[in-house]
Amino acid sequence: MRTLTIARPLDAHLHLRDGAAMAMVLPDTAQRFAAAIVMPNLKPPVTTVAAAAAYRERILAALPKGLRFEPLMTLYLTDDTTAAEIHAARASDFVHAIKYYPAGATTNSAAGVTDIQRCRQALAAMEASGLPLLVHGELTDVAVDVFDREAAFIERVALPLRRDFPGLRLVFEHITTGDAVDFVRGAGPGVAATITAHHLLLNRNAIFAGGLRPHNYCLPLLKREAHRRALVAAAVSGDPKFFLGSDSAPHGRSAKEADHGCAGCYTAHAGIELYAQLFDAEGALTRLEGFASHYGADFYGLSRSRETLTLVSEAWTVPVAQAFADGEALVPFMAGETILWRVQP
Ligand code: NCD
Ligand code: ZN
Repeated sequence: MRTLTIARPLDAHLHLRDGAAMAMVLPDTAQRFAAAIVMPNLKPPVTTVAAAAAYRERILAALPKGLRFEPLMTLYLTDDTTAAEIHAARASDFVHAIKYYPAGATTNSAAGVTDIQRCRQALAAMEASGLPLLVHGELTDVAVDVFDREAAFIERVALPLRRDFPGLRLVFEHITTGDAVDFVRGAGPGVAATITAHHLLLNRNAIFAGGLRPHNYCLPLLKREAHRRALVAAAVSGDPKFFLGSDSAPHGRSAKEADHGCAGCYTAHAGIELYAQLFDAEGALTRLEGFASHYGADFYGLSRSRETLTLVSEAWTVPVAQAFADGEALVPFMAGETILWRVQP
């Protein structure tokens, strides 16, 4: 049995939801991570500093006793976000970024940005203040193939954005393609990316393996093997531009196993173990701490956790379901399958 001790990691992209659902998923993350960048795509979305403050209080109130966890809040960018709101966010000590969802790109993105040109005031305020923009990098144009939406977003949105706001700090969230890896690598120190465990472990065949697999359906979609390999190479490279963001996105079973099923993989139940398994398979376990615990904190100007987490190479089987809100079941990623690393209690 091998062990690995790392600084307690930071999840730089997490969906916690709200209310009872939040209370039921929060312990999975808080048992593993020192902190997480919390996504604002609630219904209604978290668009103001005041709403983020209230959401943060609800998260802290739901935290089980004995667990230390810091929710790092974000605001949801809309066509109407003002420069004043950006400056208020920057002045707060709990809003750490602004999230840009192209309208219609993913779950709860209806209130997202219809045209990034409408956000120029807010973007200029972010550029001036250093508050990072987190992008869901998919072009929603119906003429663009769903597997090509990330590459199209780079051409038509990300590159122009870099040109117009060269000082804007940017995190390309949950990257899925070699195109995004190349864009981030070539873009200067203010540009970084998060990578999920599911995009590192699976290629798009997993959406169709033995039948339609709704629990492997997330956005951006899983991509072909060559892209997965590019993500793995970036993640294990030790390049601080690439860091852990789980994009754990819980939906009840009935919302997933449905006509018009929801996008999102729930991975928080094994939020660090999945990455340990991948890094170990790549012979890169010594690089896990940088990717999971250091680079994200460094990018956000936060101190690295001084607490530690120990992983042991012990196989365990993922439950087929866990409890969720409203009597629903939540089907975790790799349900019923074996994971080779576990967190030492
Ligand atoms: C996320 C969700 O469910 O909130 N879904 C997903 O497939 N990743 C939204 C998102 O990050 O795109
Ligand atoms: Zn997400």
